[in-house]
Amino acid sequence: MNDDKLMEIALQARENAWCPYSRFAVGAALLTADGTVFTGCNVENAAYPLGNCAERTAFFKAVSEGHRQFRAIAICGAPEGETPVKSCPPCGACRQVLAELCDDDFRIILADGVHTLGELLPLAFRLKDAHRA
Ligand code: THU
Repeated sequence: MNDDKLMEIALQARENAWCPYSRFAVGAALLTADGTVFTGCNVENAAYPLGNCAERTAFFKAVSEGHRQFRAIAICGAPEGETPVKSCPPCGACRQVLAELCDDDFRIILADGVHTLGELLPLAFRLKDAHRA
């Protein structure tokens, strides 16, 4: 699975975004260690804080299906009805969720290129690191 293909899948997943409040549609495609791809889109709610980002949708789908090892995620976002051109970096909450089960070398594929989780969330809080020896 190359980066361009993963981004293509994210673009497709974005078509399912439920975003009647922000009108900003986001898609994600998460690649697991065994090559399975889980997609996600943002799913908003009339009670605004209940909305879920595309990245977390993909991640929770994968974990709930028994996956524990991840290689990369492609993310795309733009106002509904427009083709994504600009980079759509993951929000802080999603970065922390990724840090729960991904190492710092986990790859985050955006419109502007490839980043790592360590780059986007340096010094991440992980309980396994925070515990006393
Ligand atoms: N959103 C995502 O799904 N992922 C991101 O990385 C940034 C923001 C969603 C949340 C909300 O539904 C909409 O985009 C506007 O913030």
